[in-house]
Formats: sequence, C-alpha cells, structure tokens
Amino acid sequence: MGSQYTFAGQVLDWFVTHGRHDLPWQQNPTPYRVWVSEIMLQQTQVATVIPYYQRFIARFPDVHVLAAAPVDQVLHLWTGLGYYARARNLHKAAQQVRAEHQGHFPNSVEELESLPGIGRSTAGAIAALAMHIRAPILDGNVKRVLTRYFAIAGYPESSAVKSRLWELAESLLPESGIAAYTQAMMDLGATLCTRSQPDCGRCPLADRCQALAADAIATYPGKKPRQNKPVKAVQMIILRNGQGEVLLEKRAETGIWGGLYSLPERPLAKSTGQDEPAAQCITEFNGLSCDLTAAIRLPEVRHSFTHYHLDIFPLLIEAHQTADGAAGAADSDCWLWYPLNHSLEVGLAAPVKKLLSRLAEDPHPISR
Ligand code: ADE
Repeated sequence: MGSQYTFAGQVLDWFVTHGRHDLPWQQNPTPYRVWVSEIMLQQTQVATVIPYYQRFIARFPDVHVLAAAPVDQVLHLWTGLGYYARARNLHKAAQQVRAEHQGHFPNSVEELESLPGIGRSTAGAIAALAMHIRAPILDGNVKRVLTRYFAIAGYPESSAVKSRLWELAESLLPESGIAAYTQAMMDLGATLCTRSQPDCGRCPLADRCQALAADAIATYPGKKPRQNKPVKAVQMIILRNGQGEVLLEKRAETGIWGGLYSLPERPLAKSTGQDEPAAQCITEFNGLSCDLTAAIRLPEVRHSFTHYHLDIFPLLIEAHQTADGAAGAADSDCWLWYPLNHSLEVGLAAPVKKLLSRLAEDPHPISR
C-alpha cells in the first residue's frame, strides 16, 4: 500500500501476514464449496466445522450429488452441528440450483439471496469469496469490527443500526482484492477484535478505532435488550428392547427438529418431572410389555433454543418381548429401533444424541 490510509488498505496489508490462509474451504474456493462452508459457519465455530465440512464434501463433492442425495443422508452428516434447518435448506437450495440454474450457482447477490437459507451476508460472502464480486458482508465478526471502529451504539440487530452498518460495510469495500478483504474482515473479527479481551495491540485499525480512543471497547457492540426466556418441560421416553435398541420417532417436517428422529415425548405440566406419563406410554406401544415398576428417571437435560429453554426429563423403560415374540411398535415409517452404537445413518435431535451417547456409555444407570 502507498502512504494513503484507507480502512480496506490497512485490513488487506494485515491479511497477507496475519490472516488465515489454510482453511479447507479456501482451497479451490468454488461457489459450491464456499456456500457449504458459509452455511456450516453461520452458527458454528471454525474448529468444530472443519471435520464436518471435510466429511460433507467427501460425501457430496458437488451440487449435483447433494441434490440427488436423500435428505436423511444430509441430516446424518449434519448430526451434532445443530440448527438442522440449515441442512434442509442446503438440500433444497441444491435442488433449486439444479432445477433452475442448470447446476451453476447464480452469479449475483440478489439471485443467491433468493435460494433457501442464504441471507444477504451469506450471499455477499459467496459472491465475494468465490466469484470476486464486490459485495459487502455483515456477519457477527464484521458487526463487531464496525461498531467498535465507528463507535456505533445500539443493538446491531435492530433495524436502524443494521442498515447503518450495511451502508458502512458497502462504503469500505476495496476497489480490488474483494475476496482477500472479505476473508480478512472475518479473520480480524475472529482472531483480534474478539468479543472479550480483543487484542488491540496487534490491530491494524487501532489508531483510528473510536471505541478504543474512548477506552470503551467493551460497550460495543451494544447488548440485546434483556428478555427472560420461558422454560418448557417435556418428558422423553427411552424405551429399550432386549437387543439394546431404543425406540425413536420421526418428527414432523415442520417445527423444532423437523424431520429428525427423536425420543417419544410426553408433555409435562410443570418443570418438575414428577408427572406420570408411563401409563400413557404402554397404550401407544401396544405389542410391547413395559416393566413400568422398573422405569428409571435419568438426570434432566436443558436444551436452549433462541426463544425458550426446553427442560427434558428422560425416563428409561425396558421393553420386553410379548409372549408370542412380536417385536411390537416400530412397524410404520415414523418408528425406528435405533442401535446405540450409532451405526444407523439418521439425523438425530441434538439432546437425543446426547442422551443416547450417555446411555451407550453407561447402559445401566441408576434412578435419579
Ligand atoms: N465464518 C464465516 N465464514 C468464514 C470463513 N470464510 N472463514 C472463517 N470463518 C468464517
């Protein structure tokens, strides 16, 4: 860079020596590969994403293979990453790219944004990183950098602050080097301008950062106005058969954990776990005789969603074969006897995966 200071110039210079250059999606950054990585990275950290990304790309190397795969396979490779709507949208978008764009990603931000699961920032990232289109991004990292650099108060998700940040993001783009700049902004936010204890001493923007000048880094970005999340409670029945398999139920396509396999649920009035669902359980699983006296209450698990906490009270019940030897239940498409060694490739709701892993490790827990 010459002597003239520009925001993008500082960021680009810094990137050459201090940015990340070895992330798997930076090698051969096709729109498909960048898209998959950006979707995975939407709510998940780089270190967690890398092995998932590699498995995913090995199994679905291009958009055609992904579009042709059964959605259950896609969900299986997503198990553990969470936010499964991302995987469903990925699959849907692949089919849309195949059907409407002859298998080529559209090359404008507007068209990218029209695909399921791709918002403005993700569209900008794909356009900039894979197509060298001069488009801004505004992910969490960039919001942090910009709110601090320009000392922008208020909650960044509020529409007024957000539109101001988009304006700024757009105005700062370099004339050339958009891919490097885009990655650099993410890296700056992820490695230096972190939420807590940012490393301003190494920041290429420190000398003009307004938050730093005011010694007020910690006040940016502005916090979300506080709201207490409601708590819901549910009982989950872990019905285990003589082969050590557990009965799972496929959830409806819409709603939480849409289309994933989960444990059968019973509503609970209060978050005490003391209600008695077992009697209802036996009627639903006729063909199985459940030893209700030996039902075991397992420790509760809290799963937090954006808008509420779900307290899960697991109840382990051993199912025994009926006298005539019928396996019972699990005869329709929505029931599945799941072996605890995870050898079946189906998408599991995150807390169910956790509960089943615990049970695999400790097959005979004692009652809580
Ligand atoms: N988060 C979102 N996109 C990313 C990328 N390309 N590299 C690192 N972290 C990211």
